[in-house]
Amino acid sequence: MKKINVGIIGFGTIGAGVVRALKNRRLFLKEKNGVDINIARICDKDLKTKRPVSVPAQLLTRSIGKVIYDPNIDVVVELIGGIRPARDIILESLRQGKHVVTANKALLSDSGDRIFSLANELGLCVGFEASVGGGIPIIRALKEGFVADRIDLIYGIINGTSNFILSMMSDNGLGFKEALSMAQAKGYAERDPYLDISGGDSAHKLSVLALLGFGAVAKASDIYTEGILGIEQDDIRYASEMGYAIKLLAIAKRAGQLLELRVHPTLISKSHLLANVGGAYNAIFVRGDLVGENLFYGQGAGPSPTSSAVLSDIVAIARCACGASSKIEQYVGIRKDVKAIESIDRIVTRHYIKFLAIDKPGVLAKISGVLAKYGISIASVTQKERRAGSIVPIVMMTHEAVEKAMAKALKEIAALKVVKGRLVRIRVEA
Ligand code: HSE
Repeated sequence: MKKINVGIIGFGTIGAGVVRALKNRRLFLKEKNGVDINIARICDKDLKTKRPVSVPAQLLTRSIGKVIYDPNIDVVVELIGGIRPARDIILESLRQGKHVVTANKALLSDSGDRIFSLANELGLCVGFEASVGGGIPIIRALKEGFVADRIDLIYGIINGTSNFILSMMSDNGLGFKEALSMAQAKGYAERDPYLDISGGDSAHKLSVLALLGFGAVAKASDIYTEGILGIEQDDIRYASEMGYAIKLLAIAKRAGQLLELRVHPTLISKSHLLANVGGAYNAIFVRGDLVGENLFYGQGAGPSPTSSAVLSDIVAIARCACGASSKIEQYVGIRKDVKAIESIDRIVTRHYIKFLAIDKPGVLAKISGVLAKYGISIASVTQKERRAGSIVPIVMMTHEAVEKAMAKALKEIAALKVVKGRLVRIRVEA
């Protein structure tokens, strides 16, 4: 039976989960696939911390070179994250003729084109199922299941931390700070949660989805990104009263020959399937012209779901290495089926707007006058309290409006003397 030697770089929480799963399932995978997957080397700079899995000491090394230059190793699994040194590790592993598996969305977003081009050139595989949606097999679905489809829409709830925070705010009435503390206490949010709550992690993952779904090369910096930092408990409540949930969506939407790519908090109707995705779960909604609407739902993070995805890549490579084609270009080709990324200024959505204004006659007329000046039509207005002469919250829903016009209108409204404090605007989809 063919034996595949795997070298793992990164023995942290995810690395240890992968090692444990590979160790426990060696026989199971051998019987299922006819390939023996052997852990040949595990590399980490910290070999002292106790891991939840025991491994023979001779497998462990601090030297990356002992993995990538070992001629016996067939597959390098990169689980350290970040751009450097992960990019050099992956590129050098490929140059050494090794297939690569990675969960590193930040790196794929930044340098995916370079990595995939080199892999194509060398006829090697790069598996990255764990980079988006943890254990959800969305990468394989887009590469293979939907290969015949022209995808026109992907909506993703692809950051579990943000979804957990929004769910706690919505289901338990918590404020943003309390919900974030709870996410940290439960181990969903990092001590520095910025990448998750700023939308950055979702943007990294969206750039991977955009490549697979639309053949578009977009770095996270090309993607309009807003996180959940400005969402208040009131917004969750007011949106709910109007029949909407607030979710952090990563959106890839075909707009003619252009592609809309954006990450932002979004009002979605409570009747949409995505509105019911709660807690730290992820979900990805995909619409293709043949297949229609599909929803993928599952755990987007954590050692076990991530191991499920990493092992699926190792097995796929092991099967290839046993004879089938290992050319990846057929799957991750840059098809150029969209010409460019649409400017955020030109996108058209409905909007939820909340502002604080003085409760006195004529205030709403002033505000609606500004909206009218920019051609923005109001669908509904609700004044949330009645306190003559003092400041009250007002919530508006608009009909579809062009982003640039809305941005100008909001700037003017915020500058009105009768409007006080911070203005909240959330786009509406679905
Ligand atoms: N921090 C991410 C999340 C998981 O909260 O979904 C890793 O991509």
